[in-house]
Amino acid sequence: MTALHVDKYATSPHYSGSGSIRCGSGRRSLTVDATFDLRSEVRLVDGVFDPATPDLAEVYRPAGRCVAIVDATVDRLHGRALRAYFAAHDIPLETMVCRALEEDKNLDAVCRMAGFLGSDGCDLARDEPVLVVGGGVLTDTAGLACALLNRRTPYVMIGTSVVSAVDAGPSPRTCVNGTLMKNALGAYHPPVLTLVDRALFATLAPEHLRHGMAEIVKMAAVDDEELFGRLQRHGRALLDTRFATTGGGPELAAVADEVLFRSLYAYMRHEGTNMFETRQDRPHAYGHTWSTKFEPVAGLLHGHAVAVEMALTATLATLVGWLDTDGRDALLALCRDLGLAVHHPVIEDLELMKVAQETVRRKRGGSALWAVAPRGGLGRCDYLAEVEDSLLAEAVDRHRARCREFPDGGGGLGMYLRDARWT
Ligand SMILES: NC(=O)c1ccc[n+]([C@@H]2O[C@H](COP(=O)([O-])OP(=O)(O)OC[C@H]3O[C@@H](n4cnc5c(N)ncnc54)[C@H](O)[C@@H]3O)[C@@H](O)[C@H]2O)c1
Repeated sequence: MTALHVDKYATSPHYSGSGSIRCGSGRRSLTVDATFDLRSEVRLVDGVFDPATPDLAEVYRPAGRCVAIVDATVDRLHGRALRAYFAAHDIPLETMVCRALEEDKNLDAVCRMAGFLGSDGCDLARDEPVLVVGGGVLTDTAGLACALLNRRTPYVMIGTSVVSAVDAGPSPRTCVNGTLMKNALGAYHPPVLTLVDRALFATLAPEHLRHGMAEIVKMAAVDDEELFGRLQRHGRALLDTRFATTGGGPELAAVADEVLFRSLYAYMRHEGTNMFETRQDRPHAYGHTWSTKFEPVAGLLHGHAVAVEMALTATLATLVGWLDTDGRDALLALCRDLGLAVHHPVIEDLELMKVAQETVRRKRGGSALWAVAPRGGLGRCDYLAEVEDSLLAEAVDRHRARCREFPDGGGGLGMYLRDARWT
């Protein structure tokens, strides 16, 4: 066996790889085992576009320029600060400003971005990190454009929404929507650096802030009991003050930072150490089995769809003895306190739910469903290898009955895509 690993000719400081080769008997076959290594860092920063904050300049001064893809809404609200930052550091900035609505999450958008970055546009070198600034839609599409350009171009992510700060931003899963399923086409390509500045949340529409909280509730419910407690105590205040950016004082600011850090830690601990999804034990997939189908059918905002499935799966967990009803009700109460939906009639369409289940089963390799559910209390989880039709039907029935006890039937505030106000 011969191992080859020659750093001297590295193509990029961001990635490395190695491999070994062996010849089969009779010298009629060759087998290679190869590895690919990367480092992805997530950093909480205050005032990312304040010229006194060094993080961006440290990346882009050596590159001699910054090529950025920016969400149009974010550009309108924060573009001036972004430009002033690079001007203050005397670093040339070239930006592509993109509308980034859910309907723009398609391959056409990715091709336009690749055109801007590629040899007919900015002619990016393969080791030159692109700057991506925006919400989850822009993160997913621009990340995919970077994955395709030169087969792998590094990028720095500034997640400007709650979703993109704690989840889609540091995520290795870049993607666009397929015709039948959300996020169906993509590549594993994490950012080399994710900067999270909660000051940017000050301009988020309340609907977007709220549905982003669902991703934090998710990590708390299946991975971090302490985070769950903090959300019970402070979640509403974080929502009302946009993560302590419009009030709340230094005490709430410290809570906001700790909630973001714990959420990111839970995310990176599981997703960051499973970058290429070579394992199915992903707590992070809680709320993402049946919702992949019913979210677009019902026209729900992503976080509400995730919350509905989390609540349903908590009921399911009570039926298989994994969670007691107190645990389920604590989850429902937290979601409702934050205005997140815990029920939607779309889950009563069992045919749709079965199609969702089968589609996800195939996506997860076909050997099992691996639906995530809390087990042994909130803050811990396990994976349901299969959910029989009769069990799913019973869970849906029980869940509907439980949610009928709520005056609004378990609906969420501004839960539809059409409700979201675009600032
Ligand atoms: N790749 C992943 O692992 C992953 C994980 C979670 C979610 N997602 C995806 O993320 C998307 C949802 O993310 P999202 O909630 O950020 O949606 P989004 O990108 O549509 O952003 C919501 C809205 O907020 C605007 N916006 C963003 N930052 C802002 C700011 N600071 N101030 C004012 N407005 C701002 C955007 O322009 C947009 O209009 C979905 O498409 C979902 O599938 C991907």
